[in-house]
Amino acid sequence: MIIFKKLAASFSPTVNSGGGSIGSQPLKQILRKLQVNWREVKWIVSLFVLTVLLSLVVYRSTSLVQPLLPQFPRLSTLVPPLVAAKQEINNTDTIEAKDMRNMARILKEASLKDKNTVIVTMMNQAWAKPNSIFDMFLESFRIGNGTNRLLRHIVVLCLDDKAYSRCLEVFPRHCILLRTPGVDFSGEKRYMVPDYLKMMWRRTEFLGTLLKLGYNFLFTDMDAIWLRDPFPRLVADVDFQIACNLYFNGNFSDMRHNAANGGFKYVMSNNRTINFYDYWYDSRLRFPGKHEQDVLNYIKLDPYVKEIGLKMRMIDTVDVASFCQPDWDITKVCVMHGNCCIGQANKVKDLRHVLEDWTNFFVNGDRKRGFRQPRNCRRSNRWRPPRRPKRSG
Ligand SMILES: *[C@@H]1O[C@H](CO)[C@@H](O)[C@H](O)[C@H]1NC(C)=O
Ligand SMILES: *[C@@H]1O[C@H](CO)[C@@H](O)[C@H](O)[C@H]1NC(C)=O
Ligand SMILES: *[C@@H]1O[C@H](CO)[C@@H](O)[C@H](O)[C@H]1NC(C)=O
Ligand SMILES: *[C@@H]1O[C@H](CO)[C@@H](O)[C@H](O)[C@H]1NC(C)=O
Repeated sequence: MIIFKKLAASFSPTVNSGGGSIGSQPLKQILRKLQVNWREVKWIVSLFVLTVLLSLVVYRSTSLVQPLLPQFPRLSTLVPPLVAAKQEINNTDTIEAKDMRNMARILKEASLKDKNTVIVTMMNQAWAKPNSIFDMFLESFRIGNGTNRLLRHIVVLCLDDKAYSRCLEVFPRHCILLRTPGVDFSGEKRYMVPDYLKMMWRRTEFLGTLLKLGYNFLFTDMDAIWLRDPFPRLVADVDFQIACNLYFNGNFSDMRHNAANGGFKYVMSNNRTINFYDYWYDSRLRFPGKHEQDVLNYIKLDPYVKEIGLKMRMIDTVDVASFCQPDWDITKVCVMHGNCCIGQANKVKDLRHVLEDWTNFFVNGDRKRGFRQPRNCRRSNRWRPPRRPKRSG
């Protein structure tokens, strides 16, 4: 700033005096004056350039030594993770003691017998209304092939009181009220509204807590229709498996070229995933205003993730499909995610079609028709799915 002021000061007299008196002064005199001024300016410019270079060097070296230190209040890497976990759960004021006891009971009941695994989903008041997303979600488990037995493992995170009471009404002993003081999560949330972002980050925080409690989880967005059991298509010895956003290039370990979709992920509880979830959650401070899914895509290749040894894997879009895709194989799809859609009414209509088409295929034995295009959703955001790209593997 100071440098700029000096620069301005040294330029403006030249311009003024030159401009104001050019007719009365001999040319030589003007040139000499300009020369003097240029010497001055040159000196200031070199000082400026030097300062910039120096600060770049300093910045580079500090960021190499400790890239995260300035932005990170929680030094999760320095604290043994499981100790940190217990402290955090005790310090979490957002889960009240009563809810905590309730949560512990529900998680215990829901966890798959031998694997400590729960299926987690989340809703607010808007999705909990009768004949809306929640009802279709549950219905899909009832009419899917081999999915009915998965219902008992579902845990529903309710973001407001109305969602919670509807959940208790139709799906008792599966409902957890996840309070967030000072935030109203009850309305229909458009993508990227501040409250929507808070909702997404609240979810990431909670899922990290689950890992610390020792639960593996499969998180599914609720606007997903479960038609087959996806567990047999997932891999046992991987820490973090996640669905693709838009398309899958055929290489399960190619995190670089496959974008992740936070709406469906299977995560095992261990030190690596606990550290990763802390890192992910903390990274929101480095990318303010960003959605957790975007941040995941920014950080998934970070050296830190490599360092903790997190094993990641993509989930094939054949198994966990979405409305973002151009087409689907009804003989293989496990889960259909109703994303790439704006407006709850559009989503509900098109997900209803998925349920109808499935019934037509599975119950009535019509093998020809497959799934209709989600026309209401396509129209809602003028989304045209990309052509099916070539698979690499
Ligand atoms: C957490 O709180 C409970 C009850 O208040 C207490 O028994 C327990 O020791 C605390 N745990 C830690 C790690 O501080
Ligand atoms: C349904 O599941 C059974 C048992 O896994 C399997 O044999 C059958 O092929 C499945 N049907 C469809 C349409 O996927
Ligand atoms: C798959 O992706 C990984 C990670 O980017 C890469 O190392 C590997 O060579 C790829 N495999 C194939 C068959 O392209
Ligand atoms: C996690 O890390 C802690 C401390 O580094 C260690 O004591 C513990 O055995 C680890 N747990 C697992 C499941 O690897």
